[in-house]
Amino acid sequence: MQLKIVITLLMLSLALSASAQKPNYKRSFEQAIAQTQIMLAEIGQIQQSGLSKDLVSPRTLYKGKLKMVASKDWTSGFFPGVLWFIYEFDNSRKWLDLARNFTSPIEQEKLNSGTHDMGFKVFCSVGTGYRLTRDSHYKDVILESANTLVKRYNPKTGVIRSWDHNTDKWVNPVIIDNMMNLELLFEATRLSGDSSFHQIAVSHANVTMQNHFRPDYSSYHVIDYDPKTGKVLKKNTHQGYSHESAWSRGQAWALYGYTMCYRYTRDPRYLKQAEQVASYILSHPNLPKDLVPYWDFNAPGIPNEPRDVSAAAVIASALYELSDYSNYRKWYLKKANFMLYSLGKNYASPAGDNKGFILAHSTGSKPANSEIDVPLSYADYYYLEALLRYKRRS
Ligand code: GLY
Repeated sequence: MQLKIVITLLMLSLALSASAQKPNYKRSFEQAIAQTQIMLAEIGQIQQSGLSKDLVSPRTLYKGKLKMVASKDWTSGFFPGVLWFIYEFDNSRKWLDLARNFTSPIEQEKLNSGTHDMGFKVFCSVGTGYRLTRDSHYKDVILESANTLVKRYNPKTGVIRSWDHNTDKWVNPVIIDNMMNLELLFEATRLSGDSSFHQIAVSHANVTMQNHFRPDYSSYHVIDYDPKTGKVLKKNTHQGYSHESAWSRGQAWALYGYTMCYRYTRDPRYLKQAEQVASYILSHPNLPKDLVPYWDFNAPGIPNEPRDVSAAAVIASALYELSDYSNYRKWYLKKANFMLYSLGKNYASPAGDNKGFILAHSTGSKPANSEIDVPLSYADYYYLEALLRYKRRS
């Protein structure tokens, strides 16, 4: 009789601990909504003070104050994206209107050919809006943005140029983050039937697969190409610890990027690439037990280094999608669930704090001593995306 009770208690505690390691979807979204209301009030105050009409989206906190950015900033699309995700969660007119209002000032970026960040800006805002509303105006913006982005493609290198800055260091730099902008191009082909966007995306993904990765499937941050010959000139970092280290968010962009490429192409090489990158991340001895990476997998002071919650959010979101395609489905789901559980439990902003950002403890650029251990709008964006992806699979 006593043994029966012990076994029952043991099974109950096992069941409880297993369920405790999953995100609490409803509570997480309720917390996100409460925080976002605070954020909207903060933005309202800034806008009323008439400081600058050009500052349209929140990016982070600087010295405790909300830092707003103009639409040209690479992060401008994430807050509108957060509003779209909340609309997706609660389906109400209120959040639809807010999402539309904050998306509207980003649309002008469709003509900005000075950066590769078109996908981050336009696809996370307008693209998410299109997925949820099928508004033909959003479709037009997506197509115009894709037309602008492909101007940065060079057939000699086979890749889309990332940055125009730091010309003293690089001639034609391409960063691993750029994989994220390919979704806009794949989608543009799907919407228009014009295969040229798809072909450019595939070329970029193939050349990046060839040059950006080390034998252990970790990714360099910046590859510099000779624009006349396509030859690789340099393999560098910009936001990582060293040229040979594995900057955590870069690994996250690689994982998400190749998973998304597989969605549009069904090319098994992309699936294998994503699985290898996932394996690198999830098996790394420096990945903490709570699965929230330090800002760089090779940061010299581990375990006394800042975490990057944004990397964890991107990785979790990517793992949900990868779980749909891979034989390692269970492993990925378990890890993604635990990541979200961990983020919700230990990395969420205290209620009412952080000017309404949902998560704390991200790192923007440690080498530049910029945005260390702060909230970042893209951590919030990929966290909500991951929660929605979790919900669809449970
Ligand atoms: N795309 C810029 C970054 O990840 O910081």
